[in-house]
Amino acid sequence: TTYSLLILPGDGIGPEVMAEVRKVVGWFQTNRGLNFDVSEDLVGGAAYDKHGTPLADETMARAQAADAVLLGAVGGQKYDDLDFSVKPERGLLRLRKEMDLFANLRPAQCFDALADFSSLKREVVAGLDILIVRELTSGIYFGQPRGISEDHTPGNEGGRVGINTQRYTSGEIRRVARSAFELARKRGNRVCSMEKANVMESGILWREEVQWVHDNEYPDVELSHMYADNGAMQLVRNPRQFDVIVTDNLFGDILSDAAAMLTGSLGMLPSASLGAPMENGRPKALYEPVHGSAPDIAGQGLANPIACILSFAMCLRYSFGLGAEADMLEKAVETVLAQGVRTADLMGPEGGTPVSTGQMGDHIVAALSAL
Ligand code: NAI
Ligand code: MG
Repeated sequence: TTYSLLILPGDGIGPEVMAEVRKVVGWFQTNRGLNFDVSEDLVGGAAYDKHGTPLADETMARAQAADAVLLGAVGGQKYDDLDFSVKPERGLLRLRKEMDLFANLRPAQCFDALADFSSLKREVVAGLDILIVRELTSGIYFGQPRGISEDHTPGNEGGRVGINTQRYTSGEIRRVARSAFELARKRGNRVCSMEKANVMESGILWREEVQWVHDNEYPDVELSHMYADNGAMQLVRNPRQFDVIVTDNLFGDILSDAAAMLTGSLGMLPSASLGAPMENGRPKALYEPVHGSAPDIAGQGLANPIACILSFAMCLRYSFGLGAEADMLEKAVETVLAQGVRTADLMGPEGGTPVSTGQMGDHIVAALSAL
């Protein structure tokens, strides 16, 4: 099998962290005989500089054709005053929209060596490994009607009203539910669906449709339901009770940011966005670190490449079906952290000497060889 991977390094620290992913890809090619067909292209400010647009049509077509896309980061001060239509982030938005990436995956994984970095106590988070699946293309951020208008109801001081509409179709719920069940089968085989069925019609529909997909298509996966407010509490009280959490756009936005703080540095957080299955049965997919282009540290070898490397681990697991290789890569990261190897963003109050971006990549590759 050949796995086609389109790499879009982007701007700022994007190319720096991507260079380390390249080392990892090379390692798997050489040592595990995997056949990656890697190509590279421009996105964001880098694409604007060359083509006058943050994502060329040709790049968009290559992204549609690839088994998976891995993106570094986009943006930088140089582009801050550009017209909105050609801003770097528009390149990313175009990818997400045209690939119809409706499921946003945010894992919260806490490596034992970094447990003291968490906002919570070590006993609560050590060994944590959960995955939040957030619906990304519908819900209250998009529903109609929306807007601010006059409202002269007697007693309404100020005379205005602001409206957003939470609207979900059964089809939108079913497709993200399928993503969550598929993912659960490659992990701990448990899904917890979160909504507010007690007070929202869309929440009742959400619960019914997720249950329907479960009963008809994924009866082997364990499903539970939870009100999202209780879910927020449980995430902080005992996050390890969860495996996969599936929820809507608004709740997912909030819950995934809260979950991110369970694990520590921005430089450690991977993500993925998935769409519908392609002809080969695998979903359309874009993998990227949660962090941005970090202009404050770009070009200095200070960036932590782990978020991008763990994004590639997600790619191995969810796009290429290479779960054992994904486990190896995560194990290598864990080993390196346990050895005390730290980029600057991971230095605790006890201090020490940080390694560079390139050295961190080298350590991870060496740890792969030593597994
Ligand atoms: P940022 O995530 O780039 O940086 C926030 C802070 O975290 C900075 O102090 C940075 O040095 C640090 N940081 C981020 N990634 C790191 C890493 N891998 N290793 C060590 N330290 C790291 O967010 P910020 O500063 O708000 O935005 C900078 C630029 O990135 C802007 O142009 C913004 O639009 C863009 N951006 C792009 C995103 C993307 O491509 N998906 C997401 C967020 C922001
Ligand atoms: Mg957010």
